[in-house]
Amino acid sequence: MPSSDLPSIIADARRAFADHFGAGPTHAAHAPGRVNLIGEHTDYSGGLVLPMAINAGCAAVGRTSGRPAGRVGIWSVNQNEAATLDANRLGPGADWHGKGWSSYAAGVLAVLRDRVGHDLPSMEIVVASDVPLGAGLSSSAAFELSLCALICSMNGFKLAPAEMASIARAAERGYAGMPCGIMDQLVSACGVKGHALLIDCATETTTPISLAPLGDLAVLVIDSTVKHTLVSGEYKRRADGCEEASKILGVKWLRDASPELVASRAGALGDELHRYARHVVTENARVESFIRAVAQGDAAEVGRCMAGSHASLRDDFRVSCPELDAIVDACAAVPGVIGCRMTGGGFGGSAVALVRPEALDASRDAADLALTTRF
Ligand code: GLA
Repeated sequence: MPSSDLPSIIADARRAFADHFGAGPTHAAHAPGRVNLIGEHTDYSGGLVLPMAINAGCAAVGRTSGRPAGRVGIWSVNQNEAATLDANRLGPGADWHGKGWSSYAAGVLAVLRDRVGHDLPSMEIVVASDVPLGAGLSSSAAFELSLCALICSMNGFKLAPAEMASIARAAERGYAGMPCGIMDQLVSACGVKGHALLIDCATETTTPISLAPLGDLAVLVIDSTVKHTLVSGEYKRRADGCEEASKILGVKWLRDASPELVASRAGALGDELHRYARHVVTENARVESFIRAVAQGDAAEVGRCMAGSHASLRDDFRVSCPELDAIVDACAAVPGVIGCRMTGGGFGGSAVALVRPEALDASRDAADLALTTRF
């Protein structure tokens, strides 16, 4: 792409590289964060999800260096911190859990080295991101993918984007200790400009979906500023609960259970797993309805799907918070807002709204007012 179209965060990373390592980097990579339109907390149950890449992302720049093989020096602009990792002797993933941003870097290096099947050279790397941290916009997938793409390009590894997504996910699960699904990494690697990406997480197949039939609209992301921390028990509790529910129901993927099966096994599931299962199967159906409604230009149905998704995440899956509920209620009431819901892992983070351009200011104001008057 012409240099004027390059994300400006790449220039920031290049400048920081010169400051930190005293020379210019030879390679650069960039990977976007994401916002999810619908299909929440279903990826680890093999469900359908519909995220889109956003214009904020992470830049990674670097060069190989003459130091002993495998010695990787990484400077994080956002953390204002350096890490030095021995890429060829990183130890078991579990040793890295809870070690902050360097655990994500260690994971990418370790998993990539295993996949390519040979040792890595020494490298100097700078990462810089303009995805807000803890806002539910997948700063971690952007970090992992930009680092993975950079190392591949510096070393001539030819990996398909979906393979890089799988490496990034394995890094996050094994090293950062976050038992995530594939959604964030796959959309960061395979997102298509101007489209949302339908992902069937059981087969990991992707289909770009244009929102054009809905007419002029903007995708508005509203940060509740409540910081979510997903490398914590609540996300894992739900991922484990969904797996347990699928065993009780006798299905490979929880998304394959019918609503009737879930209802008929309510007693065996118990309240918590029953709520989780009901969320997953109804959310999966809402993604299908959403896609159909988009193709038919049916904005009202799109809005109903988003409202249903939010209610299910709030009441059944219980991953919303009062701030997100207030934003969603306030925004959805603004004329010209097609639909609004929480997005991402929840427990804070952001809401997403599909908004007619002329209603953008009013919806932003409504969300601000809801936050400032109630919290
Ligand atoms: C986080 C995880 C994803 C997905 C979402 C919820 O972003 O990384 O895999 O589970 O939460 O939809």
